[in-house]
Amino acid sequence: MADPNSRTGVKYSTPEIQSFADQTHAPHDAALERAFRAPDQHGMPAIQLGVSESRLLTLLMQLIAARKVVEIGTLAGYSAQRLARGLAPGGKVWTFEIEPSYAQIARDNIAAAGLADTIEVRLAPALEGLSAIEPEGPFDAVFIDADKAGYPEYARWAKRHLRRGGLLIGDNSYYFGQLLDRQGAEAARMREFHAYMSEHFDSVCIPTPDGMVLAIAR
Ligand code: DHB
Ligand code: MG
Repeated sequence: MADPNSRTGVKYSTPEIQSFADQTHAPHDAALERAFRAPDQHGMPAIQLGVSESRLLTLLMQLIAARKVVEIGTLAGYSAQRLARGLAPGGKVWTFEIEPSYAQIARDNIAAAGLADTIEVRLAPALEGLSAIEPEGPFDAVFIDADKAGYPEYARWAKRHLRRGGLLIGDNSYYFGQLLDRQGAEAARMREFHAYMSEHFDSVCIPTPDGMVLAIAR
């Protein structure tokens, strides 16, 4: 069947075009560059969001005038910075990380960005950490980018603690291209996440490199 997104049969995106778009719309200042490079520098997995994907987070936060944002999966604090840069004045990001060395590196990067008062890195398994911040809610946005088997549970938490009109965003919604693997237990959990999101939110899966569910709480 003809690809409705292609008039020419070739893939429109090339590395050069992507790099042009990144630099034009989503350039790094020193603090973003530091956080983006940190995984490579510190021997962490280089699984941070892409430059333009993460810029989308900033714009989404601006669109909803977000003040209270939750991130699950901090890594080196790159996406937390992108979220924080879209907050309304006085806004805050709570970000959860389970690996102590990552949390420390993220805190250092966040301090270097001048965002230490805006982003709170909490070293905790997400579900424990999330229950501890429930009194701060309801929240304007929840960004999930952590253990993939946890997505359905994180989505259920988000449904209970997002305000109406709040956003849920989930990275890796194609599960590294293995979403439809019928053998894998984690793939099944990710499909459960999709089903839950489509049933309980107004949702779409944006075709980023690994799929990004974007959904509005009802
Ligand atoms: C992995 C995790 C991610 O969140 C991602 O974006 C890419 C890879 C991983 O666990 O391998
Ligand atoms: Mg990810």
